Amino acid sequence: MRAVDIIEKKRDGYELTAEEIEFFIRGFSEGAIPDYQAAALAMAIYFRGMTDAEATALTVAMLRSGQQLDLRAAFPPGTVVVDKHSTGGVGDKTTLAVAPIVASLGLPVGKLSGRGLGHSGGTIDKLESIRGWRCELSQEEFVRQLREVGLVVGSQTAELAPADGKLYALRDVTGTVPALPLIASSIMSKKLATGADAIVLDVKVGQGAFMRTEAEAERLARLMVEIGRGVGKRMAAVISDMNQPLGRAVGNALELIEAIETLQGRGPKDFVALVLTLAGEMLWLGGKAPDPAAGQAMAQEQIANGRAWQKFRQFVAAQGGDVSQVDDVSRLPSARLVEPVLAPEDGWVAAVRADQIGAATVHLGGGRAKKGDRIDHAVGVVLAAKVGDRVERGRPLCWVHASDEARLVAAKEEVLAAYAFSSEPVSPPPLIHQVLH
Ligand code: URA
Repeated sequence: MRAVDIIEKKRDGYELTAEEIEFFIRGFSEGAIPDYQAAALAMAIYFRGMTDAEATALTVAMLRSGQQLDLRAAFPPGTVVVDKHSTGGVGDKTTLAVAPIVASLGLPVGKLSGRGLGHSGGTIDKLESIRGWRCELSQEEFVRQLREVGLVVGSQTAELAPADGKLYALRDVTGTVPALPLIASSIMSKKLATGADAIVLDVKVGQGAFMRTEAEAERLARLMVEIGRGVGKRMAAVISDMNQPLGRAVGNALELIEAIETLQGRGPKDFVALVLTLAGEMLWLGGKAPDPAAGQAMAQEQIANGRAWQKFRQFVAAQGGDVSQVDDVSRLPSARLVEPVLAPEDGWVAAVRADQIGAATVHLGGGRAKKGDRIDHAVGVVLAAKVGDRVERGRPLCWVHASDEARLVAAKEEVLAAYAFSSEPVSPPPLIHQVLH
């Protein structure tokens, strides 16, 4: 087999075999196939696409390029371990609430998460607002905590699907990131390496998301569901709105506080709706609920009876976090300066651009412009008005939390520019666009 023949076959629009894909990815990750050939194949895939079978083979080949967690050995036969994955958005703190709800019902949740990059935040960064909380866990620690606490969140390491990391770096500089089969296999190779039996995907759509249109989001969701099923996983996907930020808080400690309030029954309506939907799907896939609606009712009960909150506290303590800070959120990092942005006119909020609110949070120091940047956990934006809300001139639209004056002033302007107003009433957009089973 020769790499050039595989590139030419895809260039000419033919379907590659699983053996060809495996050969190419193995050669690429071992250094036998050079970057320029991998980039050429990525471009051929960009133009020619892939069948579901090819995308599944690519996922499996990238998965095999690195370590895989073996969770089966750690549990009695029949135990289902569930995971969730979001394609990333602004104000997306769902894992922080969904995972303890589900785990509190005896369904183990083992998750490897990333740090934020660009305008999307990362779960790990949010949890690192808690003093002492650590995510660099060995495989043994990860499995032990999953068994003992039923909930663990570790950081994604370079040992997981390393071929994906190498290919993504090439895609980033060759204009081949936005190819559906490449995105789906990239996400799924890392997800499958965690070893969960059931995965619920939260595919975001809108101006703050990777997928801008519903049709694109649906194609990506369906492909990832097919890839997962192709390797024997139970799968579901929720397509949810990311035109405006999710919930009200954007920024690491601010989002953590909102997740805590949600676990204590005081969450914002849209965020709670998504949390219950995802938890319902996880409980159903994990065999704890007869259907997703019953799962949602069970999730709601775990919030009401305080068990989800207690599971969160137990999880924080297990990973070395200072529980007194989550018990009393005024002990979490907080910004020196907090100022409102005022509505410039009377009317209704027509838009709050999630990407622009995310960018403002990055500029405040709450996110990374490039990998490895240090972040400020305290800063961010809390929305007082969202799409459909009536606003009055001079009343707060949102609050900016900043660590210095210059950034505060710049962020207030940026945040105001993210808002659009209408003189007519506006209906709030649907949050959940579709659930795919
Ligand atoms: N996220 C990933 O992990 N990979 C992609 O290709 C796109 C988004």
